[in-house]
Amino acid sequence: MKFTMTSALAVLIVSAPMAFAGGADDDVLSIDGVEMTSKVAAPPALAETGIDTAISGWHFREDDTQAMQTDSFDNPAMLAVERAADVWNTVEGTEGKSCATCHEGPESMQGVRAVYPKWNETAGEMRTLAMQINACRTENMGAEAYKYDGGDMTAMEALITVQSQGMPVNVATDGPAAEYWEKGKEIYYTRYGQLELSCASCHEQNYGNYIRADHLSQGQINGFPTYRLKNAGLVQTHNRFRGCIRDTRAETFSTGSPEFIALELYVASRGNGLSVEGPSVRQ
Ligand code: HEC
Ligand code: HEC
Repeated sequence: MKFTMTSALAVLIVSAPMAFAGGADDDVLSIDGVEMTSKVAAPPALAETGIDTAISGWHFREDDTQAMQTDSFDNPAMLAVERAADVWNTVEGTEGKSCATCHEGPESMQGVRAVYPKWNETAGEMRTLAMQINACRTENMGAEAYKYDGGDMTAMEALITVQSQGMPVNVATDGPAAEYWEKGKEIYYTRYGQLELSCASCHEQNYGNYIRADHLSQGQINGFPTYRLKNAGLVQTHNRFRGCIRDTRAETFSTGSPEFIALELYVASRGNGLSVEGPSVRQ
């Protein structure tokens, strides 16, 4: 063990049974017959921590949960994708426009998910996909912004994400993105709450181990938005961050906050090279 565990974590963590030695399983993830890159040589942001392979969270789940993600017909998230495909063509707002008016079909969004969060030169800000969707709604359509992590937003994110399935995550961390990346990294290593745990305590130093009944993954976000069986609904990256921080019994940042935007960029960069897998299925 390359760090000193807080006593709270030592109580929570149970070492992996031998069957899971090394943590991830060796199964192959294909979605509708297309093979995903679900393990890849660690990109720089991950390699600098001493980890040599970026691994999708899919490899840490039970077989029946894994199976739901391999076929679009079995993936409960696809209902939201269909719903969003209707919304895509629906005229809303004062300008009398739909997404389709300017972007043609949703397939025009191919490659977009893979590079977000992305620096927007005109606005001079780091934008998550959710922020970009709302910018188009408010500025280009004269429509109301969606709630940052509401059902309409996560469904639209899922529709846009599915167009990039199988493409490698490739967020930029240089130029104007660098300061956000640094800030995100700082948050990743900050110990929160009564339990004094950072993201790294669980997802870097203990992936492959069990925490209560949960098999810890690297906390990658290439599968987001995620359909969580527990919630029976789609969950956005920032919702997951909130849940994880809350589990350390700490106050947490809100969805769409500058802290979570920076953290999303940093976490995404630790998975550069993994396939965009969203919408994925998790328990
Ligand atoms: C009036 C035209 C217009 C409408 C309507 C519109 N957009 Fe856009 N959208 C744009 C422009 C212009 C850009 C920036 C062009 C670019 O650089 O890709 C953009 C960019 C985007 C991007 C980022 C693409 C990238 O490559 O980074 C996303 C995602 C997006 N729009 C989603 C939507 C969605 C979802 C809707 C409907 C809710 C919508 N847009 C409605 C004009 C529009
Ligand atoms: C106390 C341990 C713990 C801490 C601290 C923690 N998490 Fe998690 N996290 C979990 C568990 C357990 C899961 C569910 C199993 C899994 O996918 O690892 C999870 C899941 C995730 C997932 C979903 C992965 C997937 O493939 O669906 C992401 C992303 C994530 N965490 C990010 C973070 C970030 C970012 C932080 C720091 C803000 C953090 N976590 C802090 C325990 C933790």
